[in-house]
Amino acid sequence: MTVQTRMKTQTHHNQTFRSIPTHSKPLDTARLEKLFQQQLDLYKSNLKSSSDEYLTALKTIPLGAHSTFQSFDPYPISIKSAKGAWMVDVDGRKMLDLSMGFGSMLVGHLNPLVMAELKATLDIGTLYTAPSPDSRDAAERLCRRFGIDQIRFTNSGTESTMYAVRTARAYTGKEGVVKVEGGYHGSGDALMVSTKPSLDKAGPEDAPNSVIGNASVPGLSYVVPYNNAEALERVFEKYSSTIACFIVEPVLENIGIVLPDEGYLEKVRELCDQYKIVLIFDEVKTGLTAGPQGAAQRLGVIPDLICLAKSIGGGIPLAAFGGKSEFMKPVTDGRMPHLGTFNGHILAMAAVRAVDTLCTPEALAKAESLNIQALTRIREIIDEYELPAHTVGFGVKGCVTWSDRPVRNYRDYKATDFQIAELSFLWSLNHGIMTPPGLDEQWLISLAHDQAEVDFMVNDFRELAKTLRG
Ligand SMILES: Cc1ncc(COP(=O)(O)O)c(C=O)c1O
Repeated sequence: MTVQTRMKTQTHHNQTFRSIPTHSKPLDTARLEKLFQQQLDLYKSNLKSSSDEYLTALKTIPLGAHSTFQSFDPYPISIKSAKGAWMVDVDGRKMLDLSMGFGSMLVGHLNPLVMAELKATLDIGTLYTAPSPDSRDAAERLCRRFGIDQIRFTNSGTESTMYAVRTARAYTGKEGVVKVEGGYHGSGDALMVSTKPSLDKAGPEDAPNSVIGNASVPGLSYVVPYNNAEALERVFEKYSSTIACFIVEPVLENIGIVLPDEGYLEKVRELCDQYKIVLIFDEVKTGLTAGPQGAAQRLGVIPDLICLAKSIGGGIPLAAFGGKSEFMKPVTDGRMPHLGTFNGHILAMAAVRAVDTLCTPEALAKAESLNIQALTRIREIIDEYELPAHTVGFGVKGCVTWSDRPVRNYRDYKATDFQIAELSFLWSLNHGIMTPPGLDEQWLISLAHDQAEVDFMVNDFRELAKTLRG
């Protein structure tokens, strides 16, 4: 087996974490296949009630789950209850939750303050479908935190990105949308483009095709590689007369974690200003998991519009879009009516109050330092076992990427080792760790995770590393 040595690593933004090993050795693929089969057999023999639940659910629910993301082979784990950082599945297994509702449960399951706010709210009403002091208060809290002038609440990230794009279209009077290859922004038509395109359709790396998702009608869409300001400028130069907005996650969090190179986001801001294109940051995933004021403020680049969801709602369906008053004008003057029966639901507003109180800089710093500890200890295990992997993190999120070189865009991500990623996913589920479905999500260290939970996940990774080497 060859030992690969790498001296130089890419510079990533200094508020982000990436640690590339200096050397690694490939793993034996026949052994990986055998291990995968063993883990699959173990899964099927230990998760019988989940299997029964799945087979029953199939009769009424396509794929047995209410989101296609929640379903995976051979069948998903069915959950009975959750508290703090732990879940119990229908087979009675206690599982450490590292998915935390794709990052929504930043304050932990059944957080006492969230529960107290929700219970108190149920004493006074359920749904008003009218403005209330509670919805004004929640708006003020989030505007203060995220440094924006105005905000509108929605019920999902998909709605927020859809309305942000529509607002930008109304503001500019143009239709075109530019997005990053491999970026996911929810399932609205305009953005179901090149989310994870197959490489035979994706075209050249520095000028990707816009690959339209099944059954969607996006309108005018352009796709660019992440971390490539030159490619963005080429698209702006050629098509700016038709482009309303560029929407991007400041840190990509749907293909593992992909960090912005030093200077990339600043250049994006500059180009959007130069070509008069609305810059939208999709902070559905980053948000409070990036730090007390979100990713934009932490990374020092301020967009025109921002989309929020998941972590702001403490587990209640809540999302928002907002930004500078100037860019929210189309909502005010009616060029972009924003509608929704459940918008500003008082249960969600109660959750915002609790989350805003809980997510102090100190509380988030403690979770982040546990996350850095996990990333560092896992990196040491990667070194010890010379694994072809590295660790990446941002705020309270982290992941292991199965490649010994940095992943800077979708094409790099496609070159990572999915065989090991699949095995590692199944391994975790069998060993009592709930990681997000898919091979490209990240863990979340919530306010409910502590030293014991970090030790549990790091020790499990050590067992995996030992087993991979045999
Ligand atoms: C970056 C990003 N934007 C938007 C969405 C859509 O959010 P929702 O699932 O609440 O519709 C997601 C969902 O995971 C996301 O990761």
